[in-house]
Amino acid sequence: MKINVIGLGYIGLPTALCIAVSGFPVVGIDKKKEVLDTLMEGKLTFKEAGLEELFTQARESGNLSFAARCTAADIYIVAVPTPYIRITKEIETTYIVGAVKDILAVAPEGAVIAIESTVSPGTIAKYIVPLTEAAGRVCGNDIYLAHVPERIIPGNMLYELKHNSRTLGVAEPETADKLMQLYRSFCKGEMVVTDIETAEMAKVVENTYRDINIAFANELAKMCSRANLDVYEIIRVANRHPRVNILAPGPGVGGHCISVDPWFLVGDYPDIVNIIRQARVINDGMPEYVLERISNIMKKEGIKDISEVGFYGLTYKEDVDDIRESPTLQLIQCMERHLSFGAKFYDPVITKAIVDNQYTDFMQFLGDIRLLVIMVGHQHIQDNINKIAHHIIYDTRNCIPLNHIHKL
Ligand SMILES: NC(=O)c1ccc[n+]([C@@H]2O[C@H](COP(=O)([O-])OP(=O)(O)OC[C@H]3O[C@@H](n4cnc5c(N)ncnc54)[C@H](O)[C@@H]3O)[C@@H](O)[C@H]2O)c1
Repeated sequence: MKINVIGLGYIGLPTALCIAVSGFPVVGIDKKKEVLDTLMEGKLTFKEAGLEELFTQARESGNLSFAARCTAADIYIVAVPTPYIRITKEIETTYIVGAVKDILAVAPEGAVIAIESTVSPGTIAKYIVPLTEAAGRVCGNDIYLAHVPERIIPGNMLYELKHNSRTLGVAEPETADKLMQLYRSFCKGEMVVTDIETAEMAKVVENTYRDINIAFANELAKMCSRANLDVYEIIRVANRHPRVNILAPGPGVGGHCISVDPWFLVGDYPDIVNIIRQARVINDGMPEYVLERISNIMKKEGIKDISEVGFYGLTYKEDVDDIRESPTLQLIQCMERHLSFGAKFYDPVITKAIVDNQYTDFMQFLGDIRLLVIMVGHQHIQDNINKIAHHIIYDTRNCIPLNHIHKL
């Protein structure tokens, strides 16, 4: 069975490597020349625990190759970006439509196109089926469509690729059989077979559920801050209830999933959604809230200038190098709106310069600031607690076990 994986980013690359190591010949396809060039040189395009070793194994297996265009294959796995349109909040289909057009130009009869990208419910019926038919192919006859959404979390991707339960959204049982043969080769998790529309909605619902739960935790954090209560202690106690599981509050929600997918539902059902839209608004408002808290802390601690404030962490979560939609970047945009410039930034994981006043030396960064704002709980900060003990600290992630620090 020959496989193509289209889109070699955070999802497509580890998936392609797992498939190669499992014994199937796989061609990794990406539109970006620099991605292909880097991978063909034997270098990785992003950091992830265990990925180097998996890449070496995949290359040594002889099953892995890379190309700019799709080739003839039995299964095509599509893992391209699916952002939302900022104004309408609907899915932006350019990447997924482009990928499927490339596939249809070469796919042999009987091939399966498995969309792993997260899509708004109904996307496959609305955009992919007509594309297939326009190419003179008949779905369920000479080409088979499926939705196999991905759930892995950056930072623990390789474990989760092997152990998570997978949804196989299909229109015919034989498509499920083919996909099962492939995914079973590297995934020990439960395979849940359903129809395509249910798989689409279930995936978006999973991330929306988390977004709403985080928004609840964030609202709780704001109430507790005003009432001078410890939100973390309250969540710890409340979560002892056997049917309560409140997630952690934080400085905002980032990444390519939780901060994006709920918008699809807002875009598609504007007259129905209420709680989903409000959760997005609450979570997107957290960077602004953090700025207000900083302003109060500065007054309380006698800090006069924003240039004495340093933000630790640019990524959207700890120990990954993904900065998409990160709360710190959202916060910088808020600062620019308020015309407050001069704050300093440091992230041990991000070595490229991406913002003004970004330091590469941690000690120099600490030396130039008085108030340290922890935006991301990288392992690095836990390992350097002794170096920050004399700073004024605002810990938005509840990751610093020191007394006298300001919390969210
Ligand atoms: N990153 C995550 O944690 C995560 C988790 C679950 C699901 N997802 C979903 O997986 C999908 C991919 O996300 P990602 O984070 O891997 O994205 P990414 O931006 O890291 O990678 C996507 C890759 O696709 C390439 N690409 C775009 N159009 C192409 C085309 N027509 N042909 C070939 N290559 C093309 C891009 O150059 C890029 O390298 C998205 O729908 C996302 O919502 C992501």
